[in-house]
Amino acid sequence: MRITVARTPADLEAFRGGVVVPTMGALHAGHGALIEHASRLAGDSPVVATIFVNPTQFNESRDFDTYPRDLEHDLALAAGAGATCVFAPDVDTVYPAGRDVPVPDLPPVATEPGLEDAHRPGHFQGVCQVVARLFDLTSPTRALFGEKDWQQLAVVRAMARATHPGTEIVGSPTVREAGGLAMSSRNQRLGAADRRRASAISAALAEASRWPSSTRDAEANARRVLLENDLEAEYCVIRDAETLLEASPGRPARALIAAPLGDARLIDNAPWPGFAIPAGA
Ligand code: PAF
Repeated sequence: MRITVARTPADLEAFRGGVVVPTMGALHAGHGALIEHASRLAGDSPVVATIFVNPTQFNESRDFDTYPRDLEHDLALAAGAGATCVFAPDVDTVYPAGRDVPVPDLPPVATEPGLEDAHRPGHFQGVCQVVARLFDLTSPTRALFGEKDWQQLAVVRAMARATHPGTEIVGSPTVREAGGLAMSSRNQRLGAADRRRASAISAALAEASRWPSSTRDAEANARRVLLENDLEAEYCVIRDAETLLEASPGRPARALIAAPLGDARLIDNAPWPGFAIPAGA
């Protein structure tokens, strides 16, 4: 399939108003599924995958420096999944010298839950800054984000409501490896033994769903599964699926886990069936 590689805002002219999939590259089958989802939604409109390793959202320069980059591989994957354009700008195009690229006001879900916001200070500032800038450059009608980064999805959804109301934010389901590990570009940093231990994270999420009558029991038992696999969680919690604050009866809830493992930091989440909304409510 033919794909256009856009490097500058002018190159994007013919591709505005379509469906956008923002990524940092190092594309894997999870991104492939996102782009396929975007193509299904797009009909005849353009499908633009953006590839930009955004320096303003990294907490550690080592993480930024070692973030995997492979544009040739990414172009082939994006084209195969149905993208019509890959926007791969350099840093000066996204952040032109001498011009301030605004950081939108952060919504409460970016600062209050004490999850990624607490463990990666400044991260959502960088994410909101680059996503708003990419939306300005591509003017999408819809933009797709993976559910694996659940708090990011909630943050971008809340931000876009305020800054880009013409862009609908669509979540796309997490794609998993055979053992249950959620696909992520950072999984490339895991050796074989760590990869086996990493599948305890999805097992812990499954365990949480076996304790639907108490958030405390669900959290404790999920944490037990992690510890049995020598994984110490940064957080392992049941929260309201939208605000990411305390879960409450009658509202959808989510189990969320973050755990460091070797050179990687893994995050994952799943719906939590407790507090289910009663049928007919
Ligand atoms: O999820 C990501 O890959 C990044 O945070 C995003 C949304 C592309 C912004 O740089």
